Amino acid sequence: MGMTARGFLAASIGYGLIGLVAGLYMAILEDHSQMPAHAHIMVIGWVSFFLFALFYLHFGDRVSRRMTQLHFWLAQVSSPLLFAGLWLMHSGNDEFQPLAAVSAMAYALSFLMFAVLAWPVLRNST
Ligand code: HEM
Ligand code: HEM
Repeated sequence: MGMTARGFLAASIGYGLIGLVAGLYMAILEDHSQMPAHAHIMVIGWVSFFLFALFYLHFGDRVSRRMTQLHFWLAQVSSPLLFAGLWLMHSGNDEFQPLAAVSAMAYALSFLMFAVLAWPVLRNST
């Protein structure tokens, strides 16, 4: 397994565990105000990162190495900031809204990189 697939797999397992703790926290405290943080940790952190791991496992040798590294690192830096920003915003700290906004744009940019790097795989598949 390449380093990128391995990195995304490790991140997905880590965020899966964190997201489950956040879900249980809301359920036990009967306070669902952290739903946006929990939902994004789960669907970006656990689900999307697991899917990226599978993508790179299968197609890793057919995509640009440089773009792969940019995608991986931008996703890994922006996503924890987005999760933290969402959590802080929804625990009454409105001043963290810019953190959530900027990290969300950065995460969106990382996805755009993925779309660009995955395009040749899509185009050349038979
Ligand atoms: C121990 C397991 C889990 C617990 C205790 C838990 C708990 C919760 C709670 C309390 C909510 C808020 C519900 C509401 O207020 O309407 C929620 C929402 C959500 N959870 Fe979980 N969750 C768990 C696992 C998962 C997993 C594995 C995923 C994804 C793979 C997930 C994805 C979501 C999503 C996307 C929402 C938002 C749903 C919506 O928009 O209505 N959760 N969860
Ligand atoms: C990075 C850019 C993103 C931004 C700015 C964003 C923003 C938002 C916002 C504002 C909501 C409504 C939250 C609320 O009810 O208060 C939401 C909900 C949701 N988003 Fe995202 N999102 C982003 C990326 C994603 C991605 C990549 C996924 C899936 C892989 C996703 C899945 C969901 C789900 C399942 C919900 C419903 C759960 C909830 O209401 O909290 N989002 N998103």
